[in-house]
Amino acid sequence: MTVRVLTGITTTGTPHLGNYVGAIRPAIAASREPGVESYFFLADYHALIKCDDPDRIERSRLEIAATWLAAGLDPERVTFYRQSDIPETTELNWLLTCVTAKGQMNRAHAYKAAVDAAVAAGEEPDGNVTMGLYCYPILMAADILLFNAHRVPVGRDQVQHIEMARDVAQRFNHLFGKGVDMFVLPQAEIEESVATLPGLDGRKMSKSYDNTVPLFEGGAKALKDAIARIVTDSKLPGEPKDPDSAHLVTIHDAFADAAARVAFHADLRAGLGWGDAKQRVVQLIEEHVGPMRERYAQLMAHPERIEDVLQAGAAKARKVATPFLAELRQAVGLRRMVAASQAKEAKVQSAKSDVPVFKQYREADGRFYFKLTAADGALLLQSQAFAEGREAGGWVKRFKTDGVAALAGAPVIVAAGVASEAVEAALSALQAHEAEQASKAAKA
Ligand code: TRP
Repeated sequence: MTVRVLTGITTTGTPHLGNYVGAIRPAIAASREPGVESYFFLADYHALIKCDDPDRIERSRLEIAATWLAAGLDPERVTFYRQSDIPETTELNWLLTCVTAKGQMNRAHAYKAAVDAAVAAGEEPDGNVTMGLYCYPILMAADILLFNAHRVPVGRDQVQHIEMARDVAQRFNHLFGKGVDMFVLPQAEIEESVATLPGLDGRKMSKSYDNTVPLFEGGAKALKDAIARIVTDSKLPGEPKDPDSAHLVTIHDAFADAAARVAFHADLRAGLGWGDAKQRVVQLIEEHVGPMRERYAQLMAHPERIEDVLQAGAAKARKVATPFLAELRQAVGLRRMVAASQAKEAKVQSAKSDVPVFKQYREADGRFYFKLTAADGALLLQSQAFAEGREAGGWVKRFKTDGVAALAGAPVIVAAGVASEAVEAALSALQAHEAEQASKAAKA
C-alpha cells in the first residue's frame, strides 16, 4: 500500500538553516522512500492569517518554492503545489466548518495564546483574533483530508491541529459516510531523530528569537558572519573544550558525517580554538549549501520557471482533489437535480435486472468488510477485515472495473458451497453492468 505523506509550509518568511535541517531536508529524504507518495505545498492561505503585507506574501512564496526546489525536491516524484491554486481546499474548508464544534476551536493553542496575550495586555480578549486565526485548524484539516494523507510530518506545535483534523474527519465520516469512510484519519509525525537546530544564542533557531543563520540569503558572507556570532564559552585556544555543551557543535553535527563528527569532537577536547572551529563549521556547511545556493539564485532569477512547476503541481493535485470533492458534495447532498432523478431511475432498473451486488459494512469489531451477493441475495464472496473503510472500498471499486481479473490475490474467500464459475459469472455480469452505467452517465 502506498502511504501518503503531506505537509504544508506557511509562506510568511525566508527559510533559514533551522528550517532546512528540521523540515526541508528530512521531508525531501522521506519523499525518496519507496512506497511513499508525497504532497508538499505552500500554505499561502494560512500565510494570510498571519500577514497582511502583500509584497511579503509574494516574496516568501517565491523564496520558499525556490528553496525546496534548490534543496533537491523532485516535482516529478512528489506533488508540489500552492494551496491557493487548489480551490477545492476552500470548498472543503466550508464543508468541514459546518461539522466543527465551536467549542473545539476555543481549545486551539494558537487561539488561546492570542487571547492570553490580549488579556495580559489589558485588552479585549478576542479583539485581535480574526476569524482566520480562529478557524485556522479547519483550513489545515481541509489541506490534509482533501488528499487523504496518512502521515503529516509537523513540528510539535502543530500536533493539536492534526488531532483536530482527525476529529473533524471522524465526525464527517460518521455523518455522511454511510458505513464507508470518506476520509482517512491522519497521523501526526514528529521526527524525533531530527535535531531541532539551535540558533546563535543556543535557543531553538527561530525568527521570533532573532537568532537565525540564513540558508541562502546574503550568500557565503552572510553565512560566515552569522556563524562568527554563535555564542561559545570563553575558553582559549589550547584549553580543552566540552563538545557536548556547545551548540556550535550541534550545528556542525547536523551537516557532518560520523567520521567528521568524531574528529571535530576530539579536536575540541584537544584544545581546538573556537575561531578555528567556526571556520571548519563554515566550510562544512558551505560545501553542503553552496551548490544549492547556486541553484537557488538561478531559480530566483527565473520566477516563471517556478510558476510553471507550481502550475503543473496544481494540475496534478487537482486530478485527485476535483473528483474527490465531487464525491463529498454528493455525500452532503449538494447534488445535481437532474442527476438525482437519473440515479433514482438507475436504481429502479438495477433492482429489476439480475445484477449481483457488493455490500460494504462495518462489524461490531470496528473493522470494515465487503461481500458479494447474487441477485437473489445468496452470498458469493466474503472479504477479510480491513482497518480502513477505504481499503474495502478500493477493492470493491477494483472488482467493479476489473471483474474476474481482480480475483487473483484478492483478500476474499468464496462462500461455502459456491462454485467458482458462479462467482466468475457474477463478477463478469457486474463488470458489464458497471461499464454500461458508466457509458450512460457519460452520455447524460
Ligand atoms: N500550520 C502549519 C505550520 O504553520 C502549516 C500547514 C498548513 C500545514 N496546512 C498544513 C502543515 C497541513 C501540515 C499539514 O507549520
